[in-house]
Amino acid sequence: MESTKTAKIITVVGARPNFMKAAPIIAAIRAYNERSAAPHGSKGSENSRLILQNVLVHTGQHYDEAMSDRFFADLNIPKPDVHLGVGSGSHAAQTAEIMKRFEEVLLRERPDLLIVVGDVNSTVACTLVASKISFDANGTRPLIAHVEAGLRSFDRCMPEEINRIVTDHLADLLFVTEESGLQNLRQEGIPDRKVYFVGNTMIDSLLAFKHKADLSPILDSLGLSGNGSRHGSANGATRYALLTLHRPSNVDQRETFLNILEGLEELSSRCPVIFPAHPRTQKRIAEFGLERFFSTANGGQGGEKTHSAEVSGRIRMVEPLGYLDFMCLMGHAAVVITDSGGIQEETTCLGIPCVTVRKNTERPITVQVGTNVLAGTSKEGIRHATQQQLESKPARAVPEAWDGRSAERILDVICCEIEKRWSV
Ligand code: UD1
Repeated sequence: MESTKTAKIITVVGARPNFMKAAPIIAAIRAYNERSAAPHGSKGSENSRLILQNVLVHTGQHYDEAMSDRFFADLNIPKPDVHLGVGSGSHAAQTAEIMKRFEEVLLRERPDLLIVVGDVNSTVACTLVASKISFDANGTRPLIAHVEAGLRSFDRCMPEEINRIVTDHLADLLFVTEESGLQNLRQEGIPDRKVYFVGNTMIDSLLAFKHKADLSPILDSLGLSGNGSRHGSANGATRYALLTLHRPSNVDQRETFLNILEGLEELSSRCPVIFPAHPRTQKRIAEFGLERFFSTANGGQGGEKTHSAEVSGRIRMVEPLGYLDFMCLMGHAAVVITDSGGIQEETTCLGIPCVTVRKNTERPITVQVGTNVLAGTSKEGIRHATQQQLESKPARAVPEAWDGRSAERILDVICCEIEKRWSV
């Protein structure tokens, strides 16, 4: 006799880089349920059907339309079932507020499994709550699955490094994106049986949405598409660089930020440098009086070339972009300059030269493959690395298992672990 069992999962998202990592997992859960419900669909143990009920929780760490809702729309993520609405605050205040509000959700929902992604404050806050919760006298708590486990910059001044270490040490299932993650976890004494090398769900999103991103009107609206072509300067489109900066260590101190901007002056006099600026960075530019480095002109309409004398030598600051527009801009850039973690990976997959404005990276595979160069934060380092990358031939050796199927692999493990837990 066939039976149906339902496992409840809570998936947590909170900040911008979470959305593209969680989207493929949410889509894979939906696809799994459709297969499971089909007359001859997949069956779990003892001829029973397993249905996965996913409760999507948004902590509200990021809340601006451009930092959150836009990504839900671009990535087809369903509306969150629960929104904690925590907003901004100091690390302690934000983490504590998420913990307080998330505990109520966990006690109400009593899930079998919690999925957290990445390394933001929402990731560590929800992991901490789930690791200490108790649903009954036996101390039953959900299994904790960490997606993007094992990355280490070995720089504990980065809040994300603390979040990664704590999350990994509390998680039950650790899903790793690159070889270095396996080594790091082993060195920290995390048992191999908890660790799974699955590839990168952020790349699942990139591959799934690349075609749609290519249709974005962003090149035209920024006047970068030259004669209507969208395939790099060789075909007449404007050669441009794409810049992102938001890391506290780069933008929260005036001297450091100024130094980085001076390192980019030469580049911005040679080609447009498009800079979708994070709200934190916009605030610092005003606070530190650094507006002279930027033009906020949106550029010409109708595809005309726009590196006019007026904006030459200045970085073109625009509002934060949605996922599809940003992917399109990245895919056609001559070089990407960034302090983001995820962008180092996305440029690797696309074969676009990347300059990372940091002294270290928790994603060493991007440097090994050859698309990414660490510039540090000195003027000279940034100038030199940018020059080198502009002259380089894009490498395109995509890392192992960055093939668009990571979420499927994660789901296979999760289903198996839930069944194992039920059979005890
Ligand atoms: C967070 C993550 C970082 C990630 C980044 C991507 C942590 C510790 N950091 O940093 O790893 O790379 O997101 O964007 O979790 N703000 C707004 N609107 C928003 C969100 C933030 O204006 O929707 C402003 C607020 O002034 C806020 C500041 O940005 O205080 C910083 O936001 P916060 O979430 O604390 O950290 P991020 O710098 O965004």
